[in-house]
Order: sequence, then C-alpha cells, then structure tokens
Amino acid sequence: MTQPIPQTAETPEQLAAFEARIAAGEKIESGDWMPEAYRKQLIRMISQHAHSEVVGMLPEGAWITRAPNLHRKMILIAKVQDEAGHGQYLYHAAETLGTTREEMLDALLTGKAKYSSIFNYPTLTWADIGMIGWLVDGAAIKNQTMLAGCSYGPYSRAMVRICSEETFHHKQGKEMVVAYAREGTPEQKKMAQDALNRWWWPAVQMLGPSDKDSPNTPQLMRWGIKLKTNDEVRQEFINEHAPELLEAGLTIPDPDLHQDEQGNWIHGPINWEEFFEVIKGGGQMNRARLESRNRSHDEGAWVREALNAYEARRHAQAAD
Ligand SMILES: [Fe+2]
Ligand SMILES: [Fe+2]
Repeated sequence: MTQPIPQTAETPEQLAAFEARIAAGEKIESGDWMPEAYRKQLIRMISQHAHSEVVGMLPEGAWITRAPNLHRKMILIAKVQDEAGHGQYLYHAAETLGTTREEMLDALLTGKAKYSSIFNYPTLTWADIGMIGWLVDGAAIKNQTMLAGCSYGPYSRAMVRICSEETFHHKQGKEMVVAYAREGTPEQKKMAQDALNRWWWPAVQMLGPSDKDSPNTPQLMRWGIKLKTNDEVRQEFINEHAPELLEAGLTIPDPDLHQDEQGNWIHGPINWEEFFEVIKGGGQMNRARLESRNRSHDEGAWVREALNAYEARRHAQAAD
C-alpha cells in the first residue's frame, strides 16, 4: 500500500495557482512550478509504469522461440519490442521531472522499486500469450486511456502514443484466444480455459488496490494525475471483458460474477492478500524476473560503455 502524500512547504498562493491551472484543464510541463508532492507522485507512478513495461517483456519473450507458426512469432516479436519502446518513452517522461535513468534502474534492479504485480505470474502454455494480450493489455488500456488525459504533459503524450500500440496488442490476444476457444481442438479449448482460470484474477487485481485501500487517490484526482479511481477502472475493464469472454464460450472463474440492473458486471471477493504478497516480492516469479533483469543489465554493460566512449569521441572531435 502507498503512503499518504506528505504536507508540502509551498505557499498557499502557489498551490492555489497550480490547482487553478489543473482545474482549467491546462497541462503542466516539466519546467513549470509544481508542488513537490506532485513531482514525487509522478516520478513514482511513471517509473513504476516504465519498469512494468520492461519486466512485462519477460513472460512473453520466453515464448518467442516456441511460437506455433511464423505469423504468431512475428506478432509476438513486434509486441515485445513495442513494450521495450513503451519503457523508453516512460523513462524519458520520468526524467523530465528531475530523476535519472540510473536512479530508476538501480531501484528496479535492487528490488526497491515496484512494478505491476501481474508479471510475477508464470506463462505456462502458449494460450497464456493470447490471454495476456486480451486481459493484461486490455486492463492496461483502460488505465492508460485514463492517464492519456492526465495533467502532466509528458506523461499524457507518452500515453497517447502507447495506447495506440496497446490496442494492437489487445486485438491480437483476443483474436488468438477466441480462435482457440471457439474453433480449436478440444486440447486448444482446454488450454484457453486453463489460461483464463489462471489470469482472470491477477488481471482484475492489476488495476490496483480497492479504493478504500488507496489513500492517495483523492489527492491524485484533485491534481489530475488520475481521473478515475481504481475501482472505477476495474469496473470498466470487467464490463467490457466479461461478456466477450462468455461469448467466446469460456467460463470466468468467479462464481459470484453477475450483471446488476444498471448493466454492471459485479465481481466476487478479490483475494487482496495474494495481491499484496506478490507486490511485496512473494509471487511465483518475482525472483526470476529480477535475476533476469540484472543479468541483462550486466551483460549489456559493454553496450553502455561503447556508447559513452562514442559520445566522448564525438565531443572531442567537435571541440577540435
Ligand atoms: Fe506496453
Ligand atoms: Fe502491451
């Protein structure tokens, strides 16, 4: 759970002028005055988001060599590559707030930083790749469409670009799972259902703790960092996905799921203990994910050194 936003030392006049800009729908840009707590919350959110994009490449990347055909393999390679690009945009957006790439990467590699809980679950079968596209990218789109309207310009613009690519990720996942669930062999149908059984609840949880456990939300909403609460975004996600999954002939692993009179799909109790345990590092794949990121970072040291040497030589030549 996140800590409440601390009181800041800014003057009431500065704060009032800032909040008036937000209320008028203006975007805040990196050189503009902003409360320290606004800056800190954004760095936390954007860097966590960047880490999630990068760590999110691991569960799917593991299946690139095992894709069932060239068509699916090309789609998966393109998707995983997109996620690397999303990480890039987001690290850049966070850098505009005064943090550095090294600080953010250090926090990730030492396990201090958080990233999305969902990527600490294993991808056991090929159907998991489809289900991740449909549900995980589907949940991410709901969240990111909201963030595209957020008050911080660089984050909002990064989200607009990312969302268009996420839409492709979502479609390819849905197309794949629907094909297996509706027209597949009995084994493929079983594989699709098994994937849904394992990914449904983690996808519902990944939209964040329930509103009563999100003490920062009112402040984040007043500052336009978030435009909807976690529970509102979760409801949107379930309303869109529950009927589509049922239509595909799949069974959602929630015996309490039902539609109310307003048309909302109401879910059963969420296992928040599991969610917080995974966030804390107790998920099945937390250790493997961090080991993998650390290994890649170490193995890529020569690339960073080469880039620095190249830059230094270019500067020296320019000085001549
Ligand atoms: Fe992404
Ligand atoms: Fe994606």
